[in-house]
Amino acid sequence: MIRNAWYALGFSGEFPTGALQGQTVAGLPMVAWRTEAGTVAVLDARCAHKRFPLWEGRLLDGDRLECAYHGFCYDAAGRCVGIPALAERSQRIPDTARQRVYPSEEQDGVVWVWPGGPDRRTPAGLPPRTPEIADPAWETLVTEPMDVAASYRLLIENLFDLTHFYPLHNGNIGSLADAQVPVEIQRDLSGPAPVLRTIRRRHGFVLPPMTRERFGLEVADQVQVHEMVAPSLFRVHVAVAPPGQLGSDAEQGFTLHQTITPVGADRHVWRRATSCPAGSRWAADPSRRLVDAIFEGAPTVVEQDRWAIERQQEMFAYPDEDYREVHIKSDGAVVMARRMLDAMELAEAGTLDPSLVSPTQTRMQPNRRRADL
Ligand code: FES
Ligand SMILES: [Fe+2]
Repeated sequence: MIRNAWYALGFSGEFPTGALQGQTVAGLPMVAWRTEAGTVAVLDARCAHKRFPLWEGRLLDGDRLECAYHGFCYDAAGRCVGIPALAERSQRIPDTARQRVYPSEEQDGVVWVWPGGPDRRTPAGLPPRTPEIADPAWETLVTEPMDVAASYRLLIENLFDLTHFYPLHNGNIGSLADAQVPVEIQRDLSGPAPVLRTIRRRHGFVLPPMTRERFGLEVADQVQVHEMVAPSLFRVHVAVAPPGQLGSDAEQGFTLHQTITPVGADRHVWRRATSCPAGSRWAADPSRRLVDAIFEGAPTVVEQDRWAIERQQEMFAYPDEDYREVHIKSDGAVVMARRMLDAMELAEAGTLDPSLVSPTQTRMQPNRRRADL
């Protein structure tokens, strides 16, 4: 797991003022709430007194969080500001009675947290941008957080690998032809987080049933961009138009932001925000918005993906001896994503110079296992 990264703690709407919530991010227990000043405070959830989970506590006036066990009170900066058992004035609150505060940022409708390892407790840059989510020029619908019993990596691999459209999604968003579209792969290592992108261009393509119903086209040109901002954000952008008309007023489309927050090694939380340009209509029912069509069609597909990666995760319980995965040409982006994430993990473990974090670096040593490095 990577800790030196921004992870989504939730969409802004998940943080009403004064409601306490607990989450585990990258193996670290956190308690969070929106303060009276409107920012989101995130503290270590283990009370400094006797480790009791602070998410079982309650918020008092003045943004004070009271532990439910012996009543230690903490402010939003993690300082202990009250201990009921200190009856005598002469007894001071120990300086060590304080909670670790995790850096958090609310940006573009998402609350992010930086769990940062011991050597990187200061965030590297701002979180990735998700501008469509909070922009009134777009209509956006967000899901409830989904708890998935699988490594976050299996979701990333699923999202890059569209060959699973057949057979996993056959008959809804997928088809065999869809699984065979050539893939262009790009990397961008210039920002604070590495980016991996796949682009699929289809010309005169017979749309699968669900897509046909959304856009009202039998045959279309389509550009589909999938982009990981490693390791926590996966953006999908789809543009569809009658043949030869991409880039014109006849183009329709949507942007999907998916946040991926590891809980532990084999569990993660998956959130999705679907955005369409404001005013886009659903071809099959023009009285309704396109964003409704895409949002309402998603649960079937999402459940198929969840089913697949949870079943895949179960097979990791068996020993690796006598087992070896096979990669085919279309697995290129999956293999590259693995290398990118491996490089981030190695850099964090101090096994690789962080300035060398790049897929190229790991590609030079393709056959070496992590234990050898
Ligand atoms: S464990 Fe929290 S006050 Fe004792
Ligand atoms: Fe899928």
